[in-house]
Amino acid sequence: MRIRTFEEYQTAYQHSVEDPEGFWAEIAQEFKWHKPWKKVLEWNFSTPDIKWFVGGKTNITENALDRHLRELGNHPAIIWEPNDPSEPSVTLTYKMLHDQVCRFANVLKRNGVVKGDRVCIYLPMVPEAAIAILACARIGAVHSVVFGGFSAQSLTDRIIDSNCKVIVTSDGAARGNKNIPMKDTVDDALIACPSVQKVIVLTHTRTPISMIKGRDVWWESEMKQVTSDCRPEVMDSEDPLFILYTSGSTGKPKGVVHTTGGYMVYSAYTFQNVFQYEKDQVFFCTADVGWITGHSYIVYGPLLSGATSLMFEGIPTYPDAGRFWDIVDRHKVDILYTAPTAIRSLMGFGLKYVEGKDLSSLKVLGSVGEPINEEAWNWYNEHIGKGKCPIVDTWWQTETGGILISPIAGVTKTKPTYATLPLPGVQPILVDESGKEIEGNGVSGNLCIKYPWPSIIRTTWGDHERCRQTYFSTYPNLYFTGDGCLRDEDGYYRITGRVDDVLNVSGHRIGTAEVENAINMHADVIESAVVGYPHDIKGQGIYAFVICENTLDDEDLSRRDILATVTRIIGPIAKPDKIQFVRGLPKTRSGKIMRRILRKIAEGDTGNLGDTTTLLDPTVVDDIKAGAM
Ligand code: WTA
Repeated sequence: MRIRTFEEYQTAYQHSVEDPEGFWAEIAQEFKWHKPWKKVLEWNFSTPDIKWFVGGKTNITENALDRHLRELGNHPAIIWEPNDPSEPSVTLTYKMLHDQVCRFANVLKRNGVVKGDRVCIYLPMVPEAAIAILACARIGAVHSVVFGGFSAQSLTDRIIDSNCKVIVTSDGAARGNKNIPMKDTVDDALIACPSVQKVIVLTHTRTPISMIKGRDVWWESEMKQVTSDCRPEVMDSEDPLFILYTSGSTGKPKGVVHTTGGYMVYSAYTFQNVFQYEKDQVFFCTADVGWITGHSYIVYGPLLSGATSLMFEGIPTYPDAGRFWDIVDRHKVDILYTAPTAIRSLMGFGLKYVEGKDLSSLKVLGSVGEPINEEAWNWYNEHIGKGKCPIVDTWWQTETGGILISPIAGVTKTKPTYATLPLPGVQPILVDESGKEIEGNGVSGNLCIKYPWPSIIRTTWGDHERCRQTYFSTYPNLYFTGDGCLRDEDGYYRITGRVDDVLNVSGHRIGTAEVENAINMHADVIESAVVGYPHDIKGQGIYAFVICENTLDDEDLSRRDILATVTRIIGPIAKPDKIQFVRGLPKTRSGKIMRRILRKIAEGDTGNLGDTTTLLDPTVVDDIKAGAM
């Protein structure tokens, strides 16, 4: 399945378009299946109904663990680097990981989890997060990992939406010099979650926590009660593997559902090809397992490929801004996969944190999560890659399960800020507002995909109609990504950012509606409107225009109250960077907020606000302009 040259890429791509079923069948054969599929693909994008490797039976953990035991049993599967650099790192070989996963799978069973049950995982970046994920997959439970930075309220919403039976957490998390209380947050969340019967608590930071009799059990003592013998559950290719919540332009986050067979094949295929992973290399993806990047490229993709995946608990700036480079140096990292926001932030600290670090082990650099600006690309290339490591700017989404548009390291000629070309099996098209295809090169439009790839979203948990509406109804028979895109004269793709009301703040996806709802929870707030604006480090910052009930005595205090409210409702990642109090919002006569105008004001581009004559009260705009921050 490995592409080595650009000619091989072209041949593979051609094959994947002319005969997608034949193409993917060949790749899928490299995995262990209990029963072969009857048909490679059945699909329609109108309902939508998408099935890959129909009738095939497998277990993804057998492919990620058991399959490697003979040859790679003593080979490192996970290297864990703790938050505190003075503490020792931990290496789990494939044999050790297999043992732990089987044990924890038995712990889940002991605590009442059966195939099809949902298990919530709310853990810091510790190896046990990967163990818990794989243990679920071992027994056919559906994991729903929730990023550790989300609030109790967000956790509650996600647990209730998917009706989780068990939650796995830890006493606390260590991030930089902060100790974050995880179990306390879980306790708060569970007040409103009657479906949760058991809480399995990992001892990590040894912070004092409450333990409720009959409900809460310790990870460590449970692990002693079980054997490491756990037969993998035979799963249908289309059985759900996991749910991962993500933000959209409207309402509450939705639970994106990925299934077993297609996700397995695609995450492994893209991992091996995009990064050109070679045996014995160390792969370091700096994402959190709470996001899709962590699922596909810390856990599944690397382990399915027999790779060594480095997991880092801490943050890039602790104990100083040289931490990533220190990790690369000490663990001889071959491939580094990180986000533009991290690069921009570290760039800001200057070169003194890079100097003196041996980065010569690096061979490939990756970027993900948001558009990478040219300056960051060049810095990454020059100072980290020393001009000799290809940079793969990988474009994809929670919904796509794996990378769709990206260079193949060392194979595709790169170009700063371009995700370049679609991977085999991916058929992108650009359309205009009316859905008409924009053909040829040197054009831009809305990015859609016209043919399914194996790890495409199957449904949104509990609400299939929402999946249809969000992704498959804007343009008939196309998957709509929500991204704008440019295709240059060479046919190279460059992602220009979201065209809907979704923000990308430090690589985190946040819906403007979600933030507005949280702000509106504040007792004094009547209404609010949230837009993004360019931010040097975060990519996008959050700008909130807020109408309050009374004249404020102390604007600053009110701002802090609003920030506290947003933190309580969503989590610190959704805190607005700027809050401007206004007396009114620019609305049309039909009551629609004209965000276009607010966006311009937030960007500081107030010279030309376009046509404001359709506004109910055009004077509102002058007031907002005068008070802009
Ligand atoms: C954006 C993250 C430009 C895009 C894997 C997409 C990118 C959203 C890139 C998905 C990239 C991701 N260049 N933009 N290389 N990668 N995006 O679901 O707007 O957290 O729609 O998945 O991030 O974010 P998500």
